[in-house]
Amino acid sequence: METTNIGVFGPKLSGKTTLAMSLSRKWWRLRKRRSLVLDPNLDNWGEQAWVSDNEEKFWDSVWKTRDCLVIVDEASETINRDKGLISVFTRLRHQGHVFIVIGHSGINLLPIMREQLDTLYLFRTSAKAAALWAETFAQPGFRNAVDLGQFEFLWGTLYSAPVRMKLSLGRMG
Ligand SMILES: Nc1ncnc2c1ncn2[C@@H]1O[C@H](COP(=O)(O)OP(=O)(O)OP(=O)(O)O)[C@@H](O)[C@H]1O
Ligand SMILES: [Mg+2]
Repeated sequence: METTNIGVFGPKLSGKTTLAMSLSRKWWRLRKRRSLVLDPNLDNWGEQAWVSDNEEKFWDSVWKTRDCLVIVDEASETINRDKGLISVFTRLRHQGHVFIVIGHSGINLLPIMREQLDTLYLFRTSAKAAALWAETFAQPGFRNAVDLGQFEFLWGTLYSAPVRMKLSLGRMG
């Protein structure tokens, strides 16, 4: 299955940004795709990434380029229920972009946004949020996200049942 829209959800300090940084480096190394990152913290994402904390500039660059990994960190601050951003979920792939949205539970996204995701990295979350993702992906295994330990996550797609994983920082890069 082709990956186009990836969700990364979990509570504070669960390892979301660290995981997304690892994916950013991996997509550069394996597929020569650069990253465009909207990150209010302006963290260091590495040389493969262009990072901005200015939403207007960021979306401008996204719509002017093609074939990048587009990453929105702390989406709860920027995307949420902003209807103007539905097109990010539905149309970015037509520019060859792959999209990664990072947030806390995902409950605050519009249903149409959640339904566009095809790949999910779900860290420990509430029973309510876990049930919502299980339903959205038609993958009951996502309900097990309530039992995860620190830095553990479930990785799954619309067509593959979730697998429990943990990033080993020693093997990153
Ligand atoms: N797999 C891991 N093993 C060990 N430490 C980790 C792992 N993943 C992240 N960390 C560490 O945990 C801390 C929090 O990670 P990170 O910033 O990625 O979390 P976050 O979910 O993005 O947090 P926030 O919601 O505050 O943005 C960092 O110091 C990071 O180095
Ligand atoms: Mg973070």
